[in-house]
Amino acid sequence: MIRLDKFIADATELSRKQVQRAARQGFITVNDAVQKDPSIKVNESDSIVISGEVINAARPRYFVLNKPQGYVCTNKDDEHPTVLDLLDEPRKSLLQICGRLDIDTTGLVLISDDGKWNHRVTSPNKGQGKCYYVCLASDISDDEVEQLKKGIRLQGEPKPCKPADIERLFSNELNITISEGRYHQVKRMFGAVNNRVTELHRKSVGQIELGELEEGEYRELSEAEVATF
Ligand code: URA
Repeated sequence: MIRLDKFIADATELSRKQVQRAARQGFITVNDAVQKDPSIKVNESDSIVISGEVINAARPRYFVLNKPQGYVCTNKDDEHPTVLDLLDEPRKSLLQICGRLDIDTTGLVLISDDGKWNHRVTSPNKGQGKCYYVCLASDISDDEVEQLKKGIRLQGEPKPCKPADIERLFSNELNITISEGRYHQVKRMFGAVNNRVTELHRKSVGQIELGELEEGEYRELSEAEVATF
């Protein structure tokens, strides 16, 4: 059960204040009776109508987006465009970005308005792997790859990282899969073996992949993809 004004505001472009005003003015009916109190509790089985328009409960939304460079993973930023600017969706203020990529990192970003799902995606306990393509400034040795695989200690951190999976592509390019989300983790991991990341692209999170998405494009997740978290 949720408040009538929240139920309508979540499912429409109206603010809570606008809904409250509409209720007081008698524009809202609940189960065919005019309802002037916006604080009463309703649920999905109630028939809710505002100015003749039937309101269906907002369904949670789940998106995957291919982030281009130069975009930030915050809801609002005064200097840079945010990944939410790339979405052509109503009620964007309800959407949350699940886990951040740096401004110069490209690739897979998950966005949803289901807070519990977002929490599961970002929870380190879930331990679902995040796979990144990495290009390095210098070649990396087999010994350094082994150190990273075992779990390297980052500067200023008491505990080493959890073990990582690494697939070497070339002498300075590889795919790395990590299960945690420490601050600038991938860049710092390669910094710990005296190297520098020049390109970072997230390819997948758990079983969710970008598929055919071009940079700047997004799509809704399938039910099967949502259910993997
Ligand atoms: N690790 C980083 O260093 N940067 C990112 O954007 C993601 C993971």
